Amino acid sequence: MKQELEEIRAAAIAALASAATEDAVEDVRVNYLGRKGRLTGVLRGMRDVSPDERPLMGALVNRIKDEVESAIAEALTKARAIERSRRVESERIDVSVPGRRAILGHAHPLTQVTRELVDVFVGLGFSVAEGPEIEDDYHNFEALNFPHDHPARDMQDTLFVEGGWVMRTHTSPVQIRVMESEQPPFMVIATGATYRHDSDATHSPMFHQIEGFMVDRGVTFADLKGVLTRAVRELFGADRAVRLRPSFFPFTEPSAELDIGCFGCGGRGGACRLCKGTGWIEVLGSGMIDPNVFRAVGYDPEEYSGFAFGIGIERIAMLKYQIDDIRRFFANDLRFLKQF
Ligand code: DAH
Repeated sequence: MKQELEEIRAAAIAALASAATEDAVEDVRVNYLGRKGRLTGVLRGMRDVSPDERPLMGALVNRIKDEVESAIAEALTKARAIERSRRVESERIDVSVPGRRAILGHAHPLTQVTRELVDVFVGLGFSVAEGPEIEDDYHNFEALNFPHDHPARDMQDTLFVEGGWVMRTHTSPVQIRVMESEQPPFMVIATGATYRHDSDATHSPMFHQIEGFMVDRGVTFADLKGVLTRAVRELFGADRAVRLRPSFFPFTEPSAELDIGCFGCGGRGGACRLCKGTGWIEVLGSGMIDPNVFRAVGYDPEEYSGFAFGIGIERIAMLKYQIDDIRRFFANDLRFLKQF
């Protein structure tokens, strides 16, 4: 029996030596110490050992059982460590592998131009306002001194919405909204989408404008000229030629369009297609705010004066990037958009 016990111990230790996983160790435990295990069998056989041999044999069996148990515990610790390092190895990541770069978009060219314009005017002290794209006739036309039969109200230009509303045809109604809620002095710009029933290479039913206006006591045409010249030169170059040309808008008196020296021909004109040979390119409409506009918002035109201007953002972007068709901005063609 003693020999059998030594044999069992040696076999158990040998089995544990090659048990590399927790499961394999558990198998060994079951084989030797489980209910039907070899060592358990021997323990059970103690009944048949003669009473005088029993103490000695009992001590031996217990010692071997202890030895096997602690060998199992040791093997288990080892197996766990091996499994952990195998897992660490298999889950290792190679931080030197180049990453998959997320494809980043960028601001739309019209957004870029808008931001550039806003930055220039904010830099000159203007603050930024907003107005609704669906307007009432009063703010879009009436308060801006459009006579009732003015062609701008014609079906040709205005997109009417049910219930007497219109899609704003310009950003000028923001002038009225600001003046209704604020008292001068102020310098304000407003940008946003505007709508007209018009579509060809240079007109889009939805387009964008930036509006600007300044109201205070004693604002003169010289202020208009100074501010706009400065702004336009920041946008198109410090030595750009600038001229104001008489024009007409219902909400300004006098009115002027601002032209800059053509960057296609350097102002020489001739056969230049960009300026159609005039040497000048129109960039905005402007003027001194009409006394009737002040009356509509309850300002005394004897006390206050101001100037206003409106710029077509698509037009500026088309000039700046030499884009021949306004519809390219809205076609969502990445081959076009990626160039900016
Ligand atoms: N609202 C005009 C348009 O859409 C542009 C404009 C011209 C705005 C002169 C102004 C201005 O504020 O003074 O055609």
